[in-house]
Amino acid sequence: MLPPETELFQFVEDTARRVFALYNFREIRTPILEDAQLFSRSVGEETDIVSKEMFTWEDKARAQSEKSQQLCLRPENTAGVVRAYIEHKLFDKGALQKLYYIGPQFRRERPQKGRYRQFYQIGAEAIGPPSSGSESPLRDAEIIEMLATLLDAVSLSGWELKVNSVGCAQCRPLYLAALREALEKVANTLCVDCQRRAVSNPLRVLDCKVPGDQATIDALPQIADSLDAGCREHFAQVRAILDGSAIRYRVDPRMVRGLDYYTRTTFEFTHGDLGAQNALLGGGRYDGLSEMLDGPPAPGIGFALGLDRFVLALEAAAASRESQDSPAQSAPGLYIAPFGPGTNVEAIALARQIRSQGISVEVGDESFRLKKSLEAADRLGATFVAILGSNEAQQKNAVVIKDLRSGEQFTVPRDQVATALKERR
Ligand code: HAM
Repeated sequence: MLPPETELFQFVEDTARRVFALYNFREIRTPILEDAQLFSRSVGEETDIVSKEMFTWEDKARAQSEKSQQLCLRPENTAGVVRAYIEHKLFDKGALQKLYYIGPQFRRERPQKGRYRQFYQIGAEAIGPPSSGSESPLRDAEIIEMLATLLDAVSLSGWELKVNSVGCAQCRPLYLAALREALEKVANTLCVDCQRRAVSNPLRVLDCKVPGDQATIDALPQIADSLDAGCREHFAQVRAILDGSAIRYRVDPRMVRGLDYYTRTTFEFTHGDLGAQNALLGGGRYDGLSEMLDGPPAPGIGFALGLDRFVLALEAAAASRESQDSPAQSAPGLYIAPFGPGTNVEAIALARQIRSQGISVEVGDESFRLKKSLEAADRLGATFVAILGSNEAQQKNAVVIKDLRSGEQFTVPRDQVATALKERR
C-alpha cells in the first residue's frame, strides 16, 4: 500500500475512531498470533475460514516441560476479543463493554480484487453480562445505525443493507432438523462441498456460491419459519428501531453468514461498485460465544468492515465523480523554496515555525533553480510558495509568498506567515 492510497486508509480509520467515540466505543488491541483452537471452537470446524483458510503452524516446545502448540495468524477478531473479555475478567465490571479494533487479518483465500490474504478490518463488539442490557435489540439497531452514520461520514453512498435472524440455541435445532430432512432429498444434486455440509453442518449449505446449486438452495426451508417467539419478537424490535431511524434494509432469509457463532440478528452491507467481492462489512449477534470459550454468559453483537474494500469503493466513487480530489488527499499548504547558498538554514527554521501552526509544509533545496522549485510546488499541489532568496534571508524578517492559484505575490513579516496563509486559504 502506497500513498496516496494510504491516505484513504487513514481517512476511513480516523473517521471510524471519531464516529465510534460518539457511540462510546473504546479501542482494544489483541494479538495477531492466537491459539488456532480459539477459532475452531468459535468460528467452527466446518466453516471455510477454519477448514481451508487459516495460516496455522506448530510452534515447537522449547523445553521438555512445555507442550507444542498450534498457532495461527488470526483470520478474524471477534474470537480474540471474547477471549480477552474472559481472560481479563471484563465481566467483573458488570457493565456493557463497547470495544473497537483496527488491524490486519489473514485468510488463505484465492486473491482477487477486494480479496486478499492479508487484509484490514475495522470492527467493534458490544458484549456484557445479560444484566448490562447486552441482549437488547436496541444494541443491534444501534450498531447498524452507527454503521450507516459511518458510511455517511466517509461519503459512501449506494450501499445496500441486508438483515436476517438465525435464531437461537433453542429454535435453531428444529430448523436444522427440517433443513437436514429437506437436504436428504436433494443433496446428491448439489456440489461436493454441499454434500459434505448437508451431513456435518447443514446451515453452511446456505452460504454456497456455486451457481448451479442456487435454485435448489433457494427452495429449501427458511429459518424465518422456525424462529421461536422470543427470536421473532427480538428481530421485530430490531427492525422497528431501524424503521424509526429511517434506515433502509432488506430481509434476506438466506443470509446466515459464514461463521458458526452467530445467533439471532445477522447483517451485511454490500456495495455495487465492488464486483464479486461486494460485502463491505458483516456482523451479527453471538449470544453463546463466551460460553463456547468457557466464559460466563455474555451476549454480544458486533461487526467487521473490510477496510481494503472501503478504500476500493471510495476510489470508485471518486472516479465516477470524475474528480481527482478524494476526501483524504492532502497537499502541502506551503512549499518553501530556498534560493541561493546558505538559505537552507532559514528554510528549515521557517518550516518548523509554520508546521507548529498546523500547516503542512514541503521544503525544496538551496541548489534548486527557482523554476524547478515552482514546478515541484505545482506538482505537489501546494497552495503557496515562500521564496527565500538571499536578500530576504538576509533581511530575516520578510518572506515573499506566491499564491499559486492566482499568481499574486506578496511580502509578509516572517512571524506572520502562518496567519497570512490561514487568512487567504
Ligand atoms: P466476515 O464477514 O468474515 O466477518 O468479515 C467481515 C468483512 O471483512 C467482510 O465483509 C469483508 O469486507 C472483509 N473481508 C473478509 N475477508 C476478506 C479478504 N480475504 N480480503 C479482504 N476483505 C475481507 C468477520 O470477520 C466477523 N468477525 C465480523 C463480526 C464481528 N461479527 C460479529 N462481530
